[in-house]
Amino acid sequence: MNLWGGRFKESLDSKAYSFNQSLSFDKRLIFVDILGSISHAKMLGKQNIIPKEDSDKIIENLNIIKDEIENGKIEVCGDYEDVHSFVESELIKRIGDVGKKLHTARSRNDQVALDMKLYTRETMNSTIKNINELLSSINSIIEKNKQTILPGFTHLQKAQPITLSHYFKCYREMFKRDLSRLFETLDRLNECPLGACALAGTVYPIDRDFVSNDLQFKKPTENSIDSVSDRDYLIEYIFDLSLTMLHLSRLSEEIIIYNSNDYNYITTGSSIMPQKKNPDIAELIRGKTGRVYGALIQLLTTFKSLPLSYNKDMQEDKEFSFDAMDTANACIKEMSNMLKNITFNKEVMKNSCLKGFINATDVADYLVKKNIPFRDAHKMVGELILLAEEKNLTLSDLPLDDYNRICNNLVTHDIYEKISIETSVKDRKSKGGTGEDL
Ligand code: ARG
Repeated sequence: MNLWGGRFKESLDSKAYSFNQSLSFDKRLIFVDILGSISHAKMLGKQNIIPKEDSDKIIENLNIIKDEIENGKIEVCGDYEDVHSFVESELIKRIGDVGKKLHTARSRNDQVALDMKLYTRETMNSTIKNINELLSSINSIIEKNKQTILPGFTHLQKAQPITLSHYFKCYREMFKRDLSRLFETLDRLNECPLGACALAGTVYPIDRDFVSNDLQFKKPTENSIDSVSDRDYLIEYIFDLSLTMLHLSRLSEEIIIYNSNDYNYITTGSSIMPQKKNPDIAELIRGKTGRVYGALIQLLTTFKSLPLSYNKDMQEDKEFSFDAMDTANACIKEMSNMLKNITFNKEVMKNSCLKGFINATDVADYLVKKNIPFRDAHKMVGELILLAEEKNLTLSDLPLDDYNRICNNLVTHDIYEKISIETSVKDRKSKGGTGEDL
């Protein structure tokens, strides 16, 4: 009975321990944790809060630990609650009591706040790099396809012809906005929380400006309670990524549609089935969008109603957000690679403009130039389309007599040039219009 009880208690404790730990997923903070600790140790020495030689010894050994992890000499694992305890224990293992001085004027609350900011900032910089790379893939398509014409759609119905450059410029705008959003988030993130300690600040004469400068922050945070409670920048970043995923997913959806048998505007990817060219990468990007949104909702929900200041709930800021960062960054890179290897079937795109009365607006615009009010012109074009449909013709093949019967004898032979697909694109030169580059 005793034995059983003892064993039961032990196994419960170890379950609770593993429930409580975060090392298995916060170990990716190891290098930023060491970086922050080195700055903190420098400051402690400089301010004579600990002797200078102790601070030097701590810094030297933190650097050794970093090298050993990088070289694979030690692994970040074991019975430690989290990455912060791991680093401190490694230090104490090596230099004993001197190592125990590192945590003076610091708490894991401001330490983890710092680590998350450093890690998020680093990852945001990778996202910025990846989006710039994606923009350069898009720019090269824009440069090469100023003359490539395809149908522009509304309601997935052919509406008006546009150039492929113009189409991709639309995505360029979205990803440029994504970049500017990231820069704004980075700017708000860029305040150093270290020195808030548990929540109230400290009795030691710390130099927060020094640590902030050393870690390349703009300035120290203003309020110690906010310093340990704030994860706004993380939620903002995951929102930024969600919007980027939304843009990637819209592009993916169009790639999937345009790659389908009946469209065949583009060719992408390959498949094990020889008759099929599945757009697997685009489908996966579209699918993974849900994962990133999931992280955003999880974070918003976890932080909703959370009392000040630090609560252990906040440890839940990591797994989903790390997954979202990995996922979104991989998707941006994959999209960029896919766009480098996509084939545009230009003839198919152009021919697709010949069907579907895509130049109906151009006929109306022609009539307006002959002084017919736009609303009347619109109605006449409706009748012309009905007639053309009956005769199984396009608006470009409809005889002049038919035009003139419906349009008060105002139509002359130049209409056929005015409603050609090329003219339709070229003449839309209004600012931001598809003819601007031609
Ligand atoms: N592992 C913790 C986290 O991720 C570190 C902070 C722990 N602080 C505390 N007071 N228990 O949030």
